[in-house]
Amino acid sequence: MACNVINEGMKMAVFESKPDFDPGIFQRALKDVIKKVNGNLELFTDKFPASSTIGNVYEFNKHGNTRDANPENNEGINIGWTTGFWTGILNLIYEHTGDERYIKAIETQVNSFKDRIEKEIDCNTHDLGFLYSLSCVAAYRLTGNEAAKTAALAAAKHLMSRYVEVAGILQAWGDMNDPSERGRMIIDSLMNLPLLYWASEITGDSLYKNAADNHAQKALKYIVRDDGTTYHTYFFDTYTGDPKNGNTLQGHADDSCWARGQAWGIYGFVLSYLYTNDSRFLEISKVLANYFLNRSPEDLVVYWDLDFTDGSGEPKDSSSSAIAVCGLLELVKHLSEEGEKQYYTNAAMKIMKSLYDRYSTRNDEGSNALLLHGVYFRKYNHGVDEANLWGDYFYLEALTRLIKNWNPYW
Ligand code: GLY
Repeated sequence: MACNVINEGMKMAVFESKPDFDPGIFQRALKDVIKKVNGNLELFTDKFPASSTIGNVYEFNKHGNTRDANPENNEGINIGWTTGFWTGILNLIYEHTGDERYIKAIETQVNSFKDRIEKEIDCNTHDLGFLYSLSCVAAYRLTGNEAAKTAALAAAKHLMSRYVEVAGILQAWGDMNDPSERGRMIIDSLMNLPLLYWASEITGDSLYKNAADNHAQKALKYIVRDDGTTYHTYFFDTYTGDPKNGNTLQGHADDSCWARGQAWGIYGFVLSYLYTNDSRFLEISKVLANYFLNRSPEDLVVYWDLDFTDGSGEPKDSSSSAIAVCGLLELVKHLSEEGEKQYYTNAAMKIMKSLYDRYSTRNDEGSNALLLHGVYFRKYNHGVDEANLWGDYFYLEALTRLIKNWNPYW
């Protein structure tokens, strides 16, 4: 467990006061979102949008990661780690509207996810949690769709093949025998654990939950540094299970704090708390949140790496802020101290107001996205200052959390 955390007591003055705006703006924001998604529904029902936009416009998915599109791929193919965010958006809009067109589109996409896991198409990744929680677990929770349940359980089983027992971690990427990837855990994986916790609840088999819990404990101990920042990735010896070293792939430097990784941590640890009741996960989520909030720039939306702030000339990553808001809004549900609850609630609402005012597309006809100015992969100049599917998803999840008492899909 991270110890001697130095940022725990610090508070940002801007988040000490309650928001002075009418929370009705979030209803207006939701209306804009529904209009935009309605406009996208036909195009992206049996074809999926790409991970991030080009010139603020989503095209069909051709490839799932940051590499060049494979010309052999069909347009709108269900590969990569982000297609589930689109189905997640449809699930959320269905909850808000009850519109039957969404049920049909969700069923079509659930069948695509079922086919994907049955044929093991691009499934050798820890990202199965992102993919199947928001698509199939959500559809099962909302409508009892049995195909969705079957697909999600198959995905959980497949995810278990990435569990390195001796180290107690899920390997993030690549073939399990690839020497450059063997034994690598990444902070993003915390968001993939709910699929395993859910599988234990459904099957009664504690294997999934134990693996998820072990992984979260290892992340808490090794990914979180003593100053409340986080490594993006951390290696373990797959023969002895011993910890080796931390580094980064998507962050600015090995010892910097990649903003999205920190946001995955804020939210991901709370989600592990939901399923385990282990209060250390709640405590560490607060520690990560404090560091994240303390790095807030003037407009409260963070730069892509928390090493940067105003004046750096670096781009913002709106998606990190949307993810963090969702994490904070879940976190406050489990805190008892009033001052603390209010502080994180103020922060979540003020960040969301800024996202709505300055980053959302609202009625902008020139974009089919929801949230602009994200960063996918700065080093490869991929999706920089563009919208991305997860930013859109978490923006809508955050609005949903602010508007109604929402039962998480995670
Ligand atoms: N999970 C990959 C990313 O956050 O870019």
